[in-house]
Amino acid sequence: MIEKPTFMIGPVPIFGDLILAPMDGITDLPFRGLCRRLGSAISVTEFINTLDVLENHPRYPKRHAYEPSHRPLSLQLLGDQPEQFLSAALQLVPQVQPDIIDINLGCQSKNVINRGAGAALMKQPETIAEIFRVMTGNFPQPITGKIRLGWDEDALNYLEVAQAIQESGGAMLAVHGRTRKQAYRGQARWEPIREIKAALTIPVISNGDVRTVADIEHIQQLSGCDAVMSGRAAIGNPWLFQRLDRHEVPAQMVHETILEHLNAMVSFYGGSGVITFRKFLKAYLSEYDLSRETLLMLLAINTTQNLIDGIGEVFDAYIYPVQSLR
Ligand SMILES: Cc1cc2nc3c(=O)[nH]c(=O)nc-3n(C[C@H](O)[C@H](O)[C@H](O)COP(=O)(O)O)c2cc1C
Repeated sequence: MIEKPTFMIGPVPIFGDLILAPMDGITDLPFRGLCRRLGSAISVTEFINTLDVLENHPRYPKRHAYEPSHRPLSLQLLGDQPEQFLSAALQLVPQVQPDIIDINLGCQSKNVINRGAGAALMKQPETIAEIFRVMTGNFPQPITGKIRLGWDEDALNYLEVAQAIQESGGAMLAVHGRTRKQAYRGQARWEPIREIKAALTIPVISNGDVRTVADIEHIQQLSGCDAVMSGRAAIGNPWLFQRLDRHEVPAQMVHETILEHLNAMVSFYGGSGVITFRKFLKAYLSEYDLSRETLLMLLAINTTQNLIDGIGEVFDAYIYPVQSLR
């Protein structure tokens, strides 16, 4: 029997309604691959800075690396001018061959907005429309956007921007329910996403503060969205894509996944993968009541085999015994 897609992004069928949100410094090949295996329906890259592409900066090719099993791949671009998106994409798209191209309209960091990119574009719906017209006119891939609710409380122009994107050929919209000014503070608002969904015919993805299985159901009910994106909660709980809350994941599974993720990091980055893995290890272990000394001991290890051994010792001494008492 042919499985029916959950929804379509242009011509691309999407199977599943839960997606790992793109995160700079986090959603690299190893983590995207792990989350895709656990059920994330799309692999979205960290943002790729159009200026890096145009300057052939050595840092960017690793950011869009992927394996065939990670498809559908969405290549996220961050820039400010329509021509800049076009030039960077003309260089990158034939090489990367993504299934989807995503435009970052939500990044709030100072250096990004100071150059008029990311969330700063929310202040210029006409420029956003032009970016979508130019990109849809030049690439067969569907062009999607990821927005915030607006610049600040006085400029909640999410409906205007959403409509501009749809009218200019956008094939899907992901919405983080905060303004640029809020950054990551306060609670994300999910009700405005319902207004966007009601106003558009293209798929809408809800995002912001989805941490648990109950949150997934709640945001779906409240917003009527086609899919849900989760970011920070997935660091430490990639099993959310299997619809498991963190406390439901057996210690054995956590241990195995930590080793799988660590090995993938070392294969991808070489020896420095052990260091880059620390932020994930800390998040995986935050569920357990480990002493500060134990955690610091693990986080100071800088060779792969020593870290594998250290993790094994910590699970044997502190985590498996407690789990078996539950
Ligand atoms: C460390 C970090 C890096 C991020 N990088 C990106 C990015 O590259 N592109 C993007 O569209 N959003 C980025 N975001 C925003 C997330 O995709 C998401 O919208 C936000 O974290 C809210 O979702 P959450 O509450 O599930 O984390 C980033 C967020 C964090 C915390």
